[in-house]
Amino acid sequence: MCGIVGYVGNNDACPFLVSGLRRLEYRGYDSAGIATLTAADGFRLTRVAGRIDLLEKSIARKPMFGTIGIGHTRWATHGPATEENAHPHMGGNGLVSLVHNGVIENYESLKQSLISRGYLFKSATDSEVVAHLIADTLKHLPASSIANNSESIDRYVEAVRQSLDQLRGTYGLAILFRDQPDLLIVARCGSPLVIGVGKSEQFVASDTSPLVGYTDRIVYLADHQIAVLRPDSIQVQHRDHGKIRPDVQTLAAQETEASLEGFEHFMLKEIYEQPQSIRNALRGRLDRDNATAKFGGLNLTPQQLRSVKRIILTGCGTSWHAGLVGEYLIEELARLPVEVEYASELRYRNPPVDTDTLIFGITQSGETADTLAALREMKRKGHHTLAICNVVGSSIAQVADGGIYLHAGPEIGVASTKAFTSQLVVLSMLALYFGRLRFLSYEAGQRIIRQLEQLPETIEKTLECHGQVREVAAKYASASNFLYLGRYYNFPAALEGALKLKEISYIHAEGYPAAEMKHGPIALVDENTPSLFMVPQGAVYDKVLSNLQEVKARGGPVIAIVDQQDSHVMSLADDVITVPQAEDFLQPIVNAIPLQLLAYEIACIRGCDVDKPRNLAKSVTVE
Ligand code: G6P
Repeated sequence: MCGIVGYVGNNDACPFLVSGLRRLEYRGYDSAGIATLTAADGFRLTRVAGRIDLLEKSIARKPMFGTIGIGHTRWATHGPATEENAHPHMGGNGLVSLVHNGVIENYESLKQSLISRGYLFKSATDSEVVAHLIADTLKHLPASSIANNSESIDRYVEAVRQSLDQLRGTYGLAILFRDQPDLLIVARCGSPLVIGVGKSEQFVASDTSPLVGYTDRIVYLADHQIAVLRPDSIQVQHRDHGKIRPDVQTLAAQETEASLEGFEHFMLKEIYEQPQSIRNALRGRLDRDNATAKFGGLNLTPQQLRSVKRIILTGCGTSWHAGLVGEYLIEELARLPVEVEYASELRYRNPPVDTDTLIFGITQSGETADTLAALREMKRKGHHTLAICNVVGSSIAQVADGGIYLHAGPEIGVASTKAFTSQLVVLSMLALYFGRLRFLSYEAGQRIIRQLEQLPETIEKTLECHGQVREVAAKYASASNFLYLGRYYNFPAALEGALKLKEISYIHAEGYPAAEMKHGPIALVDENTPSLFMVPQGAVYDKVLSNLQEVKARGGPVIAIVDQQDSHVMSLADDVITVPQAEDFLQPIVNAIPLQLLAYEIACIRGCDVDKPRNLAKSVTVE
């Protein structure tokens, strides 16, 4: 959601800006733009409503020169996705140009006051307000005492600082000034920004992906920090407390550029990466000798963990579904009460939470605004907060008191796939760990470890169902409604299957516990509404079979996911997809594969933009 890039150095800015925006495309956007600046000609601006391809074509027609520039992909919040609303925005009659990620909550009152002072607004955005505000503040700062260039730069920084003081809400900002063609100022409050340190050049981006190949020396900007970037220098300061020494870190080697490697879409590539991403999540974390799991970053002693009485798992979207599976896992294996909360609710709901409660934020991106806010709120109340997170160095990884990385590698497809299964693997290991601190026997621990160790191979075999899934997709791609049904561990799996289909094929789908069907959704069943049942062998096999029969008796087409040559199910279901057998607690991971593939194949048949579905964003940095 909204991507920022920036460059100041000795090379042409435009190539980095365009390639950077391309690498941020996965975050989700609906318009894009770039501004470059030269001392001779001032700002040059190109903006489009639409994709980067369009932006590139526009730049090819009217090339943009300059060794300093900023770029942006916008996911519309205030005002529709039009060229006027696309960033960069100009302020003070061409004095300032900026890009903004986040939401300025008090923009309306600031706008009215700027209008009353004669500023003209060209867009409906909250961001343009910031551009005019900085220009206005600068205008009112005395320039007369300025003796040299560095003092003059201080004046620009001061204008930014004073303007930020007036903002309520969240921002990541990259700002250029017409009169300072080698000065790029960036500031952060709630929306991520990373600085890439080069040789006589500096880069800025919303995450590390645009920086790969340009530099491996990075500085994560923290909230309330402002960075002043010039070709040969970086100066970081806290908005209120003055200068800070920038913490330059090395970008991990594995964070390489994401490429399709022969797959048609990132989503498909990421589905097929799951045997490996699961291996990576497991690596070094299973302790056979003690029949448990181990984690390096929880930052709690076993004694402290032993005294935990309750766990809250919080997240959004697919990560919230992972939390639901986590609840089943931890309650069953560790006998610890778990609650799963939508982060957007938890942050405002103010439930009573005992002191011995541990809070886990589950998040692929580590940037989801609601999850971040919920964790902050819990931390403020004195709870130990932990993150189960994929993106190293992300905002949530920084805010949490500790956590567990997924090591799934970059997930580019907007619909989460490999991060979801890695979250489930981590949650299974957590359940094992907490279980072994409490009531789980050595033998039971060993059994779980063996099953987890086999999982990557099981997932490899599961991927062989792709052919069957393709046939099912061809048959049902024109349906308008779908039902996904499962019980026990497969109930959250059903929710996730339905979400995948909605996200990328735009078909309405509902996930339900199979037995709940008769309390409402069964009224939807007709010959055009397929119901997908997960009916593997296991604790609730017979129960799910009865539910399947109830749908069949009402003439609804039934697709069944089974884990053996199940003649009974085969005689009832219209279509069958076969997956390998797995213990109940691992079934949501195994079944995720056909559900992801089904959504993918149906979306392809319907001609949908699989990796960048309409209206959705990968990294949801607004609440
Ligand atoms: C967006 C993405 C989903 C994701 C959700 C939570 O809606 O499109 O795929 O599940 O955000 O994101 P997180 O990064 O916190 O897991």
